[in-house]
Amino acid sequence: MLLEIQVRAAQALELTADVLVVGIFQTGGKGALPPSLKQIDEALGGALAKLMAREEFSGKRDQTIALSTLGRIGAEKLMVVGLGDRRSLGAPEVRTFAAKAARGANVDKAASLAIALPGGLETELRAVGEGLELGAYRFTKYLTGDRKPKRSLATVTLGLASRPKPNARSLVSIGQQVGSAVNFSRDLSNEPPNVIYPETFATAAEALAKANGLRVQVFDFKEIRRRGMKLIDAVGRGSSREPRFIHMSWTPKGAKRKLVFVGKGITFDTGGISIKPAAGMGEMKHDMSGAANVVALMAAVAAVKPKVEVHAIASCAENMPDGDAYRPGDIWGSLDGKTVEIVNTDAEGRLVLADALAYARSLDPDLIVDNATLTGACMVALGSTTAGWYASHDDAAREFAAALKQSGESMWRMPLLEELRDQIKSEVADVKQAGDRYGGSITAALFLREFAGTGRWIHCDIAGPASVDRPTGWSQTKGATGHAVLTFLALIERSSR
Ligand code: BES
Ligand code: MN
Ligand code: ZN
Repeated sequence: MLLEIQVRAAQALELTADVLVVGIFQTGGKGALPPSLKQIDEALGGALAKLMAREEFSGKRDQTIALSTLGRIGAEKLMVVGLGDRRSLGAPEVRTFAAKAARGANVDKAASLAIALPGGLETELRAVGEGLELGAYRFTKYLTGDRKPKRSLATVTLGLASRPKPNARSLVSIGQQVGSAVNFSRDLSNEPPNVIYPETFATAAEALAKANGLRVQVFDFKEIRRRGMKLIDAVGRGSSREPRFIHMSWTPKGAKRKLVFVGKGITFDTGGISIKPAAGMGEMKHDMSGAANVVALMAAVAAVKPKVEVHAIASCAENMPDGDAYRPGDIWGSLDGKTVEIVNTDAEGRLVLADALAYARSLDPDLIVDNATLTGACMVALGSTTAGWYASHDDAAREFAAALKQSGESMWRMPLLEELRDQIKSEVADVKQAGDRYGGSITAALFLREFAGTGRWIHCDIAGPASVDRPTGWSQTKGATGHAVLTFLALIERSSR
């Protein structure tokens, strides 16, 4: 359920809630109390000014002061949060601020939150709506009894410095729908693998499509085989849970461009016959995060209604060892027609993506963007909070970089090094599935390129963030990001201008 959010002009002191958060820009000189806090400080008998002086509060971004008000103002608890320098504050920073407020409220077991926003942020209300939903997110559905949170944040009052503009409500509401789309992706990813497998993933995508008036097609295993998606067959055949291929679309009249988003949907990755070690294997329930992202993206698209044709393709399978599983040494065909020599059944993601990319190409798009929890090597390169991305063409790269700047998500461009191409040459098939350990994220990208064709294509290796941005992940440490969904949405909205 979405938060109930009210927007009105109000001084900080007028706001009532369990928790009151006051955002403060950085001031040059320390100690001077901003006007919005003066009245509160008086009501608290000067305790706030004293605390701020002792903690040397200057409004630096993320600097926080928290105190109990003992009921002397309309909120039990007060948090003063630094917004940093006014000029360097954009939508991503506002989103993070709002997310922290919402998360803090939940940590304090508050049901209601009030936020006093300083003047000048009226234009960032969408980012506030996004951040509140992202920050309030928790995955608690399997907790019972004492473990179940007794209260969660339900209502938020936004106090603006001036009377809200007519579009204020709709900005907040679109932001909420975008934030909750990202939360939908987190939910799918956090669900255990006995609950979410290809068939139930497809059912969830169909329900989302129906709720948002989007077109959706689901290919079952028979149809996948009939169409010649042999690489999805290879990966999925080792599991009793059959693979599914999902195609969702938003096709508005008068669309100027066509974008196709593709996601890896391995609902559980054991590694197959090249089985993974036991430690941490449970994390591989998140191996469908790329697919969850593109499905969730469509909910955000339905909210934003861009004049761009958008397609989402989720390639879902479970990678299990079995008597009928594919093996190292196998040679498989593909939807594209190329043959692939299998060397490691744990490099399954690139295989289900290869068929999905060949299918995406057949839609004749202006740009293909895929995202996948593809390689541990990418996490070795960039750490677990930053994704890697690759671009086939520099003009597509410029577009994607601009979208990244707008979303504020952490992704770093990686090179498609031609000299590593030798690693995926095969003696017995057209291409070898994987290279050696060094440059593993790059050779995976080079493999995908074989199937993405010569058109404009972006590939995102989200292995790191996908395993961190989960129940207590980024919304806690970095404030809020939708690891890729927000960037994809920015890309779509930019191309509808
Ligand atoms: N799903 C994994 C990649 C991964 C690892 C994601 C850790 C998130 C956290 C992928 O299918 C995989 O197993 N990749 C192999 C490729 C190798 C066998 C060429 C890897 O990275 O080790
Ligand atoms: Mn794997
Ligand atoms: Zn995998």
